[in-house]
Amino acid sequence: MENDMKDLTPRKEELEHIETASRDEIAAVQLERMKWSLRHAYENVPFYKQKFDAAGVHPDDLHALEDLAKFPFTVKQDLRDNYPFGMFAVPREQVARIHASSGTTGQPTVVGYTRQDLDTWGTVVARSLRAGGLRPGDVLHNAYGYGLFTGGLGVHGGAEKMGLTVVPVSGGMTQRQVRLIEDFRAKGITVTPSYMLSILDEYVSLGLDPRKSPLEVGIFGAEPWTNAMRGEIEQAFDMHAVDIYGLSEVMGPGVASECVETKDGLHIWEDHFYPEIIDPATGEVLPDGEQGELVFTSLTKEAFPIIRYRTRDLTRLLAGTARSLRRMEKITGRTDDMIILRGVNVFPTQIEEQLVTVEDLAPHFQIELARPDRMDEMIIHVELIEGARADPIKVSHTLKGLVKSHVGVTVKVKVAEPGGVARSEGKAVRVIDNRPKG
Ligand code: DLL
Repeated sequence: MENDMKDLTPRKEELEHIETASRDEIAAVQLERMKWSLRHAYENVPFYKQKFDAAGVHPDDLHALEDLAKFPFTVKQDLRDNYPFGMFAVPREQVARIHASSGTTGQPTVVGYTRQDLDTWGTVVARSLRAGGLRPGDVLHNAYGYGLFTGGLGVHGGAEKMGLTVVPVSGGMTQRQVRLIEDFRAKGITVTPSYMLSILDEYVSLGLDPRKSPLEVGIFGAEPWTNAMRGEIEQAFDMHAVDIYGLSEVMGPGVASECVETKDGLHIWEDHFYPEIIDPATGEVLPDGEQGELVFTSLTKEAFPIIRYRTRDLTRLLAGTARSLRRMEKITGRTDDMIILRGVNVFPTQIEEQLVTVEDLAPHFQIELARPDRMDEMIIHVELIEGARADPIKVSHTLKGLVKSHVGVTVKVKVAEPGGVARSEGKAVRVIDNRPKG
């Protein structure tokens, strides 16, 4: 299908100096800031003092960026153990904002920001939105959830800082989302890719042509999604789709973001967040280009410095392209989302890649794990597109065959009527584990 996606590439003068700086200059900024951040954590957070002392390292031992590898990792459990404010490095009175995880899987993890941190966050989000193709004065429909989740307010702060007209709609009430996008003529939308698909359904059921929507760019993140899904969304809305990454422990959205002119992975705003890739089994630092677990160290955060935080996200680091800052490849998945099915490692993104190539299937899916007898089994729940005339049994065989040949596992596929797969209003729940516990 023809497209008339506009060229939204920012001009070089619109970028911050660091985005096109030399690698030497970037490294010099990083080293100076890393020294500060290690010292700040060590002197103000008892947790870090104990951890560094126990490992026999001191902030003075950092002479080069690579020396960071001597310092201990931080993991999610450390945040839980220090609930609620034990990891803060400033007096509580200086904390201007708190965010927290939902805590559905245990003790919630709490993070804090000083005014200066909120300003830094605004800067990196603004950089991300600009990379996505937005300009001061544009209307942004922000459908990330507002509240303790960092998505809504995080994007909001950066959008205001760069001078966008922000519509703080948050998630849910999908019909209203469509109405406001149309009535307010939103140029950009920030939302999870899975909820964007629900918005797409709503366009269709309202009899509106999504390709005629005012949207020119969607900046999607908070959950893994594939280049295949990018193609699907770009085609459906005739707009650009770019990726934005972040996590609350490190800041929130805007740790890394894709540039609209290249769409080749996410540039990490590494003047504020220093990335490493490690072997998840041994903790050893891997060279750029190798796949492993992403680890971040904050370089400028005051309230909640974080040193070598293990994200559990799997990717690899690549040299910069549209910017001098390094890129990370689109996230394949999280170590904890990896399904081991009869000895084969499977990520939900691999299923997504195959699913979107099947014409009669909608892009919604959920993976159920079961153990009817002693063998684990994977059932992929999918649904037909509205008006599909294909035989569901044939379609299920098609997907099954694709998964077998491209992913290497035998699965069952259950094809539901349109609307039969659970929808998300934020992060999609991709895997339902119905295997007996223990
Ligand atoms: O999801 C922050 C965010 C909001 C990012 C809006 C982008 C847009 P958390 O709730 O702490 O924070 O979840 C962080 O979500 O470790 C990844 O596993 C996953 N994630 C976030 N962005 C992406 C992405 C926000 N672009 C966790 N691709 C992270 C893949 C992502 N996974």
